[in-house]
Amino acid sequence: MYEDRIRCAALHPKITTAAEAARLVRNGMRIGASGFTRAGDTKAVPIELARRAREENEPLRITLMTGASLGHDIDRMLTEAGVLERRLPFQADPTLRRAINSGEVMFVDQHLSETVEMLRANLLGKLDLAIIEAAAITETGGIVPTTSVGNSASFAILAEKVIVEINLSQPLALEGLHDIWIPGRRPQREPLPIVHVQDRIGTPTIEIPPEKIAAIVITNEPDSPSTVLPADEETARIAGHLIEFLMHEVKHGRMPAKLPPLQAGIGTIANAVLSGFAHSPFEALTMYSEVLQDSTFDLIDAGKMVFASGSSITLSGPRQTQVLAELDRYRDKLVLRPQEVSNHPEVIRRLGLIALNTALECDIYGNVNSTHVGGTHMMNGIGGSGDFARNAACAIFATKSVAKDGRISSIVPMVPHVDHNEHDVDVIVTEQGLADLRGLAPRERATLIVERCTHPSYRDLLRDYYRDALKLGGQTPHDLGRAFEMYTRYKETGSMIPRSNTV
Ligand code: COA
Repeated sequence: MYEDRIRCAALHPKITTAAEAARLVRNGMRIGASGFTRAGDTKAVPIELARRAREENEPLRITLMTGASLGHDIDRMLTEAGVLERRLPFQADPTLRRAINSGEVMFVDQHLSETVEMLRANLLGKLDLAIIEAAAITETGGIVPTTSVGNSASFAILAEKVIVEINLSQPLALEGLHDIWIPGRRPQREPLPIVHVQDRIGTPTIEIPPEKIAAIVITNEPDSPSTVLPADEETARIAGHLIEFLMHEVKHGRMPAKLPPLQAGIGTIANAVLSGFAHSPFEALTMYSEVLQDSTFDLIDAGKMVFASGSSITLSGPRQTQVLAELDRYRDKLVLRPQEVSNHPEVIRRLGLIALNTALECDIYGNVNSTHVGGTHMMNGIGGSGDFARNAACAIFATKSVAKDGRISSIVPMVPHVDHNEHDVDVIVTEQGLADLRGLAPRERATLIVERCTHPSYRDLLRDYYRDALKLGGQTPHDLGRAFEMYTRYKETGSMIPRSNTV
């Protein structure tokens, strides 16, 4: 049985149930699990762990590291069972979010390229166990990942023991799609030799000594579908502004006609905006990104995109079924890499990426908050947005100009939490317009952002704030007594708009 999936005969005796495999987990362990934005996560052992914690009266608290967010409600189940003590480096689950914000779970919000770098440097402690989803194990014990690579390779290499979940619903055609390259130890490390998005520099499988594999569990569950919403009028307008800006850059010789590689962040807005490129004059697009969402495959199918490098494939239900069934059609246009390679500063800088990420809000000087609602409450995490924004040739942040039916302005005087500071942010775009901040001083940035990007309902409010702040002087004028008054008003009245105005 499973001979095509577990081709290393010596590993057949390791096949066991999820419940038995979950027994390898002990209280206080540090565990690295596969999974990146709902793709390629382990689907059986974590669920057994949650069951064990609920039904058996024993203390079971762990540190869980992954690539990024998980599907199948795994973070919810582990949170409800009280299993999560620490969680890193990213999540997107409402139940876990509540536990993080109430202080029950310690969440370490990290640049996604840095987690395994820190593990390797022994800054996060020893990794006890890796739990990795695979499509197959080769004759020599190489692990074939599924729809994500994420941190799986380094987790498997650094952990003491490895549990492999062989997922029969993931096609064997995935084999060969991955390119696993692990950086050497610092400070002797060699340059990362990717010079084109399509370059392959590593091996197609995760190479570990087969004797490290302590258990193999068979599963048959597809990835959870992505949760992004379809494009709407506002995301179409954001895409329109962005495409006009890029055409202008090409016309003035600041970008080549065949655009530099694109990166697009997670979520509804980035996905919808990238889809908008299908109606642009740009051809032969490439991506050097992290998550490949529906929009990537829309562009490939439209003949607009010729190659996409990522760390995971996260798709809506119907798209997932179609892409996995027709992988051979996409094979020569895709590569999946470890997230420290997909997000590597050296490659991002070398390739001169156009990075498109989403802001929750930004301020009149171009500082961006992508993570903390109201400055205090965690939404998802910074993910890879910082890896890309800091190092891209052009770092673009998109947001709708208002949230919550207009009760919140996404442009504020001063963001109460900064993920991307003014030095890293090149362009802000909302459905109202686009502000190109490159080469501008803070006073020039403020005028442009207020006039181009702000929703009309908030424009006078921000103009007044800036005018009064200017009287106080400074390189970056602020009235610190009033900088957060829009938040205070929202808390008191449920809207950032003064009662006399309406959206
Ligand atoms: N204040 C409070 N809530 C806000 C807000 C603001 N200024 N702006 C947006 N929101 C809320 C929306 O109302 C929505 O809430 P809902 O889920 O209750 O409907 C939610 O945030 C998501 O916003 P949406 O406009 O649908 O955008 P999105 O799905 O594109 O997500 C981020 C936006 C910022 C949350 C998401 O992109 C993210 O987590 N980014 C950080 C990680 C990242 O950028 N990774 C990129 C590298 S892959």
